[in-house]
Amino acid sequence: MNITVLGTGYVGLVTATCLAEAGHRLLCFDVDRSKIERLAQGEPCIHEKGLPEMLARNLAAGRLRFTQDEAEAVHHGDVVFIAVGTPPDATGAADLQYVLAAAQAIGQHMRSWKVVVQKSTVPVGTAQRVRAAVLGQLEARREKGDAAAGSALDHVPFAMVANPEFLKEGTAVDDFMRPDRIVVGVEEGPAGERALATLRELYAPFNRQRDRLLAMDLRAAEFTKYAANAMLATRISFMNELANLAERVGVDIEQVRRGIGADPRIGHAFLYPGLGYGGSCFPKDVRALLRTAADHGQRLRILEAVGDVNEAQKQILVAKVLQRFGPDLTGRTFAVWGLSFKPNTDDMREAPSRCVIGALLARGGRVVAYDPVATEQARRALAEDMADRPELLAQLHFADDPMQAASGADALLVLTEWRVFRSLSLSALKATLRQPLIFDGRNLYEPSIRSEGFDYLAIGR
Ligand code: UDX
Repeated sequence: MNITVLGTGYVGLVTATCLAEAGHRLLCFDVDRSKIERLAQGEPCIHEKGLPEMLARNLAAGRLRFTQDEAEAVHHGDVVFIAVGTPPDATGAADLQYVLAAAQAIGQHMRSWKVVVQKSTVPVGTAQRVRAAVLGQLEARREKGDAAAGSALDHVPFAMVANPEFLKEGTAVDDFMRPDRIVVGVEEGPAGERALATLRELYAPFNRQRDRLLAMDLRAAEFTKYAANAMLATRISFMNELANLAERVGVDIEQVRRGIGADPRIGHAFLYPGLGYGGSCFPKDVRALLRTAADHGQRLRILEAVGDVNEAQKQILVAKVLQRFGPDLTGRTFAVWGLSFKPNTDDMREAPSRCVIGALLARGGRVVAYDPVATEQARRALAEDMADRPELLAQLHFADDPMQAASGADALLVLTEWRVFRSLSLSALKATLRQPLIFDGRNLYEPSIRSEGFDYLAIGR
């Protein structure tokens, strides 16, 4: 099948590469020309397991191509995916300007029947706005005497589909190749049925052993994505609050986690307390759903609390540091292990490390940080955060390895649970730190580490 992907960010690039891997013919467009140039050379702009090899393989096979010509891109696909960004605007709502611009481009350039698939996360009702934007351009073309647009409008020129993506950074390729569900929202009527048949065929290679495709209406598909992320964010904030209470009452939250996770209605996944959720999805989607609710005159009180608890949780480790060292951290050096919002990615968007490091520096502390892959992204993100406090930035240093970061530090803060930190020699760590003090924001270690002479503070343990 000929498929176009507009937008080559996380979702667009992974979608395109995996669809090419399944044998489809992909053409991708992005407004960022330098990105297109890099991708055409086989250089992915994101750190994602398995992606570079798959990208190279499909480029070489000619199944995956990148273009700077939007008209060419739109012509190519029988199916056109919109996978552009939907960043939050000043009110917390999803900013749809890029989505609507992509829709307009489709309307400007299409010459034949298309299935237009909304892939990026968008509020309920957006598919209808995309449909109106495409139609608006077709009508403008007809008024100018464009015969192709005129005859397209005499029939049904395209179908709208809402097909949200559920991939997780770090396992995005795997998630796409082996989805637990494929949500496809279509319109009622023959155009919707035709589009559903097309999407079934498109996803057939990923949908073999059992049918994982869930067909529903457009609005339900859009809502499903927000509902999923809101539910998962709720689990995390709920566990974080329980962890904080567990600490007060002298209970180990990890034992409780195992105890409740064994109930299949609860399950083990996504119950890990920590420094709060970050990344490009949960914080943004929680805010956007609250905005949608407010626009419809309803409060989502649980979700409001989820966001508030998460903001507070990002500071929980800093509070422990201040309890130990007092409010003034001048003259203290802190080693930080892990910067990305979670392991196996270099993504620094809404990473709790940004709040923690910012707070330590603001109190006069010096920070030496290490991350296996996110150092460059972190350098940029923190420089942005502290653009108006350059004197603080001067107290932030990056190390080339974890032990170098720990060397001579007054304490170690673990902010991301990279696997590599688990296998380091604890005796070497103890000898390297100025004092054997660990603030573990991800419960990477067991409290038994205390028997090895470490002063160990974790989350809910
Ligand atoms: C998430 C959703 O999982 C995915 O379905 C959606 O498409 C995009 O958003 P992602 O942002 O890649 O994916 O990260 P995820 O692995 O879900 O973790 C999100 C955050 O929650 C991270 O900051 C992580 O550290 C935190 N988390 C996760 C916890 O604090 N505890 C947990 O038990 C699980």
